[in-house]
Amino acid sequence: MNADSPLQLLGGLTAREFLRDYWQKKPLLIRQAIPDFESPLTPDELAGLSLEEEIESRLVIEHGEQPWELRRGPFAEDTYQNLPERDWTLLVQAVDQFIPEVAELLEHFHFLPSWRIDDVMISFAAPGGGVGPHFDNYDVFLLQGYGQRRWRLGQMCDGDSALLEHADLRILADFQGSDEWVLEPGDMLYLPPRLAHFGTAEDDCMTYSIGFRAPSAAEVLTHFTDFLAQFLADEERYSDAGQQPVSDPYQIQHDVLERLKALLAEHMGDERLLLTWFGQFMTEPRYPERIAGTPIEEQELLDALAQGALLIRNPSARLAWSEVDEDLLLFASGNSRLLPGNLRELLRTLCAADALHLENLEPWLRDDEGRKLVCELVKQGSLEFADE
Ligand code: SIN
Ligand code: CO
Repeated sequence: MNADSPLQLLGGLTAREFLRDYWQKKPLLIRQAIPDFESPLTPDELAGLSLEEEIESRLVIEHGEQPWELRRGPFAEDTYQNLPERDWTLLVQAVDQFIPEVAELLEHFHFLPSWRIDDVMISFAAPGGGVGPHFDNYDVFLLQGYGQRRWRLGQMCDGDSALLEHADLRILADFQGSDEWVLEPGDMLYLPPRLAHFGTAEDDCMTYSIGFRAPSAAEVLTHFTDFLAQFLADEERYSDAGQQPVSDPYQIQHDVLERLKALLAEHMGDERLLLTWFGQFMTEPRYPERIAGTPIEEQELLDALAQGALLIRNPSARLAWSEVDEDLLLFASGNSRLLPGNLRELLRTLCAADALHLENLEPWLRDDEGRKLVCELVKQGSLEFADE
């Protein structure tokens, strides 16, 4: 993807311009980002997904048993017959993992790192339906899929912004509306983190939310230090060799801080471990139980490929790769593997190709490490046979 060619998706901006002026900074309305977009899913099909055990879904009913009633799926078949005529929303999470046509939408966003993408949530709202004025802590592209939705933007929020008293929903007590637009199918609104927004359905409508993930500072610190701690021996301790005699034994002197800072810097500054942790963390799957894996021997895999078998990425798997000195790291669904530098093109193919087959894998199957890697990914479940 050329960062300097104008993209219809970004309303004629180049990826570079969008990232410079809007990403994480300010909202952007894009009329016909995907011209004549037709939702690959009907409202009934979306409702169908919400009946499934393994799919996360929620219903928000504005005038329900209490104001803004939240119900969590899976729902019973008769749920939808008993809902009011208006003012409710169904939200279904991670539809990209279940419907390939929805996953294909993510290809439009390849100007951003794919490990930043979280999922595609799809909502259906009856007229008037919405989830209330709120803010999210992540970037989102709201693509109108069906019908019309009115979006109102509000103020920038933070942890101090007042919320309604509600056990489960974070609805803003005070929404200071500014811009307002009605989106038609194919129109898209980009919102940076923490910008208040309030969407309401003008008629029956479906909205696709392409959401991003970004670890909080607290998550980075706690998860990385937990990861680091696995590699530290119990014998390695705070040490004060060279300590001077103290004048007051009850005082903690500031040279202690220097020793602690040195200890932290030595470990926190380990770039290889930081990269390994980050790659594992960002590729952790939302539904690990969907990455089951198949026991397979290398020879069986080679035979299957020779007979025309296709391998595809498990739609629930997350893949990324990186460089460490002359070597490479492959991250697959929360795991990492150090690999020799000559496998670079294989890693690119594994991450990006629609399917893997004898033709695009051929050169790598003759390489011991390459063959082992493909086999491991099938065993681990990040790759699976297309007909499964
Ligand atoms: C919706 O689709 O109704 C909610 C999306 C959002 O506001 O984040
Ligand atoms: Co939102």
